[in-house]
Amino acid sequence: MRALVIGSGGREHALVKKLAESSLVESIWCYPGNAGIADIAKIPPLSSSSIEELVSFANANGIDLTVVGPENYLADGIVDAFRAEDLTIFGPTQAAAQLESSKIFAKDLMQKHGIPTAHHRVFTDFGEAQAYIERVGAPIVIKADGLAAGKGVTVAHDIATALEAARSTLSGQKVGEAGRRIVVEEFLSGQELSILALCDGKTCLPLTPSQDHKAIGDGDRGPNTGGMGAYSPVPVVDEALREQIFTSILSPTLRALRCEGMEYTGVLYAGLMLTESGPKVIEFNCRFGDPETQAILPRLKTDLAELLLSTCHGSLDALGPIEWDSRACICIVAASKGYPGSYETGFPIRGLEEVEDQRDVLVFHAGTAIHDGQLVTAGGRVLGVSALGSDIRSARDLAYEAIGKIDFSGMYYRKDIGWRALGG
Ligand code: AMP
Ligand code: GLY
Repeated sequence: MRALVIGSGGREHALVKKLAESSLVESIWCYPGNAGIADIAKIPPLSSSSIEELVSFANANGIDLTVVGPENYLADGIVDAFRAEDLTIFGPTQAAAQLESSKIFAKDLMQKHGIPTAHHRVFTDFGEAQAYIERVGAPIVIKADGLAAGKGVTVAHDIATALEAARSTLSGQKVGEAGRRIVVEEFLSGQELSILALCDGKTCLPLTPSQDHKAIGDGDRGPNTGGMGAYSPVPVVDEALREQIFTSILSPTLRALRCEGMEYTGVLYAGLMLTESGPKVIEFNCRFGDPETQAILPRLKTDLAELLLSTCHGSLDALGPIEWDSRACICIVAASKGYPGSYETGFPIRGLEEVEDQRDVLVFHAGTAIHDGQLVTAGGRVLGVSALGSDIRSARDLAYEAIGKIDFSGMYYRKDIGWRALGG
């Protein structure tokens, strides 16, 4: 089988690496890729990253399976375009991907079908939003409706912050057109949890749970990022909670979409808050999480290519249970100084060779590139180091020991990944 992965982050590096290990995969391509991916996959020399160009590449090169990493391609209808050419592609259609590309679509669906989530109101007018925020009070959460690369949400602990977020979002100043409509949402407290499930339209197979660390700073302080680290499994998730999430959230969401005329295929990623009154949905994503994938896939023992193909072909029900390495995995992300704000790139990265050779350690590249034969930084999140261990503590110790050997100018990483599982 010839596989193509679309994307350029740590998530895609983890997907490419796992697919390359499959006996079903003869050759693997990735576009646009990064310096680490280029070591194991071919990077096609495309003249643009348009969907049309990717469709013609897949057609011309007999690609049997395309896996989409980032949400923007899904929101733009890449799955519809590939299917129109009878090409097999892993991901939801543009209509179903609205679950991620429009928070209002997702909230309406959840409200209509009784899926547990925070109470909310939708606003297009600042005056009306202001009156509501002043009446309800803080803490309160302001969200842009559309895709905003992780910058569309403000968790406001006072009214002034909430009003400023509502004003700058609605005016287009904060995240452009994506913010012309906003969701003002009840603040939920509890632990966050990422549940990713493979869905083939009929069958839904949850993957092992993971927990992300969204804030830039230790102790979950500072602005939100794409994710600064993750671990799997999550000790707080027992069999009863797993069952509750399946029956009260995953299954009803797929039923709700079907009821609205959409068959969901691909990964359904439910970002949950474990509140005192049970798990509630914070958001849905229509793709693998980053960096959750870098903490999940190293534990996957079942063939990933078989899982993804079965998802595309609607035959997940014919597979046995997904098998996992019983060890824990933790991923720590190293970022450029300044991220998630502005940052410089082009700094040489040192120390990777030794870490890459280390047993039970995996390095996943994100924002990296080769310039004049030298590996350099090329993005906000630069790379992730994942480590496996008999428990989260030993995985964490190994991951921190390994990342400590890597160095680039301005390198920053959180020192407390896994703190919730380890009791602070
Ligand atoms: P989202 O992009 O919707 O996942 O939001 C980004 C982050 O904001 C989440 O991972 C949470 O940490 C936080 N957040 C979003 N919605 C809420 C909420 N209703 N209550 C508390 N925190 C939230
Ligand atoms: N780690 C959060 C996300 O992938 O959206």
